[in-house]
Amino acid sequence: MQKDKSSNTDILNTKVMGHRGAALLAPENTLSSIRAAAAAGATWVEIDVYLIAEGGLVIFHDDTLERCTNGEGVTRDAQLNYVIGLDAGTKFSADFAGEKVPTLLEALECIQSLGLGLNLEIKHDGADVETIVPAVMEMLKTHWVDNNKLMISSFNHAALQMSYGINSDRHLAQLYEDIPDNWQEELESIQAYSLNCDYSRLTETQAKAVKAAGYKLLCYTANDPQAVESHWAWGMDAVITDDPSKFAFLSE
Ligand code: G3P
Ligand code: MG
Repeated sequence: MQKDKSSNTDILNTKVMGHRGAALLAPENTLSSIRAAAAAGATWVEIDVYLIAEGGLVIFHDDTLERCTNGEGVTRDAQLNYVIGLDAGTKFSADFAGEKVPTLLEALECIQSLGLGLNLEIKHDGADVETIVPAVMEMLKTHWVDNNKLMISSFNHAALQMSYGINSDRHLAQLYEDIPDNWQEELESIQAYSLNCDYSRLTETQAKAVKAAGYKLLCYTANDPQAVESHWAWGMDAVITDDPSKFAFLSE
């Protein structure tokens, strides 16, 4: 059963969370994308943190640089000075030329200055887990103020176990594409706050079981409200979307 992390608190005070900031409105995982999510009415954003060479932490999704930037190569091998010098805007639109890949610190500062909640997804590349998790947790300890506006998520259960070992008060979200048979055991072992999963693979039975076990249920990545219409009745608490404006009717 999910533990109450801090006295009381239902930290998820929204039904809509921007995905990679707001990936349909601005270049994903950039500061512009975070600002676009806020402008579209989102009060929480999901972003991906990625470990690069020499312990650098940047906001980035892919294992390679080509799709979102004018750089090339394997993300985890790239030097920080190289990555932060790339153009992360033009591939989305010429209107965003010059947009940068943010560092984790820049993103934390931006998100807090906008008063948003943060779902920080820890990306991993197998062996990276033991490096990225302590580095991210230390950065959060020193640069993130309100624990009730923070969720740490990952597909990698070992990463969440390590996060839990470092600070058991953090709100942890286990991510699944397909929910495995042992989901409850995994969530219990980290006193998870939520289960975050692919809306298109979730069944009504699974959703109801997650809710019955006391967890929040978040679904990614839905950009059409009709696609998740039934999920609300199943108990879905929030949708993670590339375009929060499409779901603005939920907060009206
Ligand atoms: O956190 C939900 C979603 O971001 C997980 O998938 O690949 O978009 O990071 P991905
Ligand atoms: Mg993500």
